[in-house]
Amino acid sequence: SHEMAMPGMSPVSADAVAEVPVTSLRGPSTPEPGGTIRRYDLTARTATIRLASGKQVEAWTFNGRVPGPPITAVQGDLVEVRLRNDDIASGVTLHWHGYDVPSGEDGVPGLTQEAVLPGQEFVYRFRALQAGTYWYHTHEVSDLGVRMGLYGTLIVSPRPAEDPTGKTDTTGTTASSQVAASGELDLVLPAHTFAGTTVLGDQDRPIERAAASGAPVRLRLINTDNTPRRFALTGTTYQVAAIDGRNLNQPGPLDRALLRLPAGGRYDLVFPMPSTPVVLLVDGRPGLRLSPGATPGAGVPVADTSGWPEFDPLAYGRPAATPFTASSRFDRNFDLVLDRGLAITNGRPAYAHTANGRAFPSIPTETVREGDLVRLTVVNRSRETHPWHLHGHTVLVLSRDGRRPAGAPLWLDTFDVQPGQVWEVAFRAGNPGLWMNHCHNLGHADLGMALHLAYD
Ligand code: C2O
Ligand code: CU
Repeated sequence: SHEMAMPGMSPVSADAVAEVPVTSLRGPSTPEPGGTIRRYDLTARTATIRLASGKQVEAWTFNGRVPGPPITAVQGDLVEVRLRNDDIASGVTLHWHGYDVPSGEDGVPGLTQEAVLPGQEFVYRFRALQAGTYWYHTHEVSDLGVRMGLYGTLIVSPRPAEDPTGKTDTTGTTASSQVAASGELDLVLPAHTFAGTTVLGDQDRPIERAAASGAPVRLRLINTDNTPRRFALTGTTYQVAAIDGRNLNQPGPLDRALLRLPAGGRYDLVFPMPSTPVVLLVDGRPGLRLSPGATPGAGVPVADTSGWPEFDPLAYGRPAATPFTASSRFDRNFDLVLDRGLAITNGRPAYAHTANGRAFPSIPTETVREGDLVRLTVVNRSRETHPWHLHGHTVLVLSRDGRRPAGAPLWLDTFDVQPGQVWEVAFRAGNPGLWMNHCHNLGHADLGMALHLAYD
């Protein structure tokens, strides 16, 4: 350890050269005025989990469960999570996927903290400033860690003043559901491939629920896997109200659409419960059956969705003003060409997932200054999809394959760059610190497709 200078005790005289103030990259310890402190204890440990079907699997868990405890807050609250590690030998961290926390709370081992080893702990603190659907996961040996079960959901409700129903209640919710006093049904549905089976929420069998006809329903779909997943909602028209936690401008009615969620991505679907059953299909199989009235749905026939067109988020909703556009003047321009090939990784040549011909840690850092307007162009020359993910920043999509979005402004934290595609995105550098930029096929990230973004 080293000595820290004490404020007010500097021996430097007043006429000395002005010092650059040292800015803490850790989060604040108080909520915003009117907010409260939400405290959680998460202990990582191995456990044998029994799924609803009876199947038993070895897992890495938070508090003995997969997904881990749901973390909920209201905008303005302080989220304080004490992470402990019982027995995960490789170590554990918590990364708040899509959430713009201070850099020191971002949970990247070797960059913002050391991995929490067995017997150790780390306390994360950040203010819940953005409402919406997010998730958390370990970032140490992340491909294995997340697959083994070290993930959970983070849901932030709008401040009561901005909640028209005034009924938002995030206390005492369970992993998969919350029913507010007004009768709305809010289901948080992380989809995971766990021991070879699809698990929606914590169920490896279709979830059966009842909802009063006419009741507002919100389904929060979260893809925690490495590859895209297709969801289809049958039996109702609906709206995609939010993508990656951000509300869309004037989302229109949708029906008979396949929703392709990139790895790490989230879609919020909303609709009033019809008087007939609704089924959510996950990769063609029922994941949720909702029935009107009091009896949970079962045996509802499954629609054939094979001919349904794929939903295009770049052509949905209505255009609206954005703080910058494709014709803005950019302070920095970064290009990433994603491919596969030989590169030096961990000190020796290996077949790797590369960006600009190199693999982590030798891909040059993207350096920005606070306030910069930054454009990032990502080209995929490989044959695999690369869900590109930025920590600490949300990007506005400027174009895909040269075409500008025709619908609502689309703000994403992960965008799925399919083989041959070119995406042009932009963000304002407003969150100083050290950040990761990586493919969210975590197996690819582990094999080199990752780099740093740093503020100078
Ligand atoms: Cu969800 Cu660096 O990841
Ligand atoms: Cu990839």
